[in-house]
Amino acid sequence: MRTTLTALQSKSGQGEKLAVLTCYDASFAALLENAGVDILLVGDSLGMVLQGQESTLPVTLADMVYHTRCVAAGAKRAFIMADLPFGSFQESPRQALRNAAQLLAAGAQMVKLEGGAVMAETVSFLSQRGIPVCAHLGLMPQSVNQLGGYRVQGKTEQQASVLLDDALALQQAGAGMVLLEAIPARLAKAVTECLSVPTIGIGAGPDCNAQVLVLHDMLGIYPGKTARFVKNFLAEADGIQAAVADYVQAVKNGAFPAPEHCF
Ligand code: KIV
Repeated sequence: MRTTLTALQSKSGQGEKLAVLTCYDASFAALLENAGVDILLVGDSLGMVLQGQESTLPVTLADMVYHTRCVAAGAKRAFIMADLPFGSFQESPRQALRNAAQLLAAGAQMVKLEGGAVMAETVSFLSQRGIPVCAHLGLMPQSVNQLGGYRVQGKTEQQASVLLDDALALQQAGAGMVLLEAIPARLAKAVTECLSVPTIGIGAGPDCNAQVLVLHDMLGIYPGKTARFVKNFLAEADGIQAAVADYVQAVKNGAFPAPEHCF
């Protein structure tokens, strides 16, 4: 039976850390869930790690639907979350609903979208119509042109306070999870303590309720530059299945992320 959002929220509420990895195809989907990964994120990072693009911006809804269908075919139990790609949800709540519906039809159980309080109306529109939403805050790769690069966010007191307000507004609007990317660990801790829904961290310190990494980064096979928060789990493991199992164990027992992966 496939894991539900309620089951994940309750696991997290009982203090269990959730292990999340990106996944883009059926073979890896089966391998990751057998190694104990709780959530498979069909991330628009596929633009960079599969398609060789310089950013996630060229990824289309058709790409996301295709890869979501592949992951859903391979995984029988893991929870599946899929990204709404750049340009597929910012125009209006109706546009977001139309496109999120395609991801759900392909097998996603939750959609993820980037944006702060400005997206609250859309999050509310989707969640009131039966579409669970994860809000992505902090470093939002789809805004790389506006951010001026892949930089740590929320470093000043003012930025930190805006991010906390955004997280609260998105939770209030109905977000079922909040993903925090590349922010100081102490800010992620404060956000996690203020929210009742689980936080998923990537470069956001050890206090988030869940951790995520891009699969190709944690296997050390992405040829581009990797961030400080990445750990190559294959370097010390006896194969891919063992590397993923080590990642799951390190997330569950709090060994990952270590201080050297944090800001
Ligand atoms: O697209 C993706 O892989 C993501 C992760 C960086 C969290 O959003």
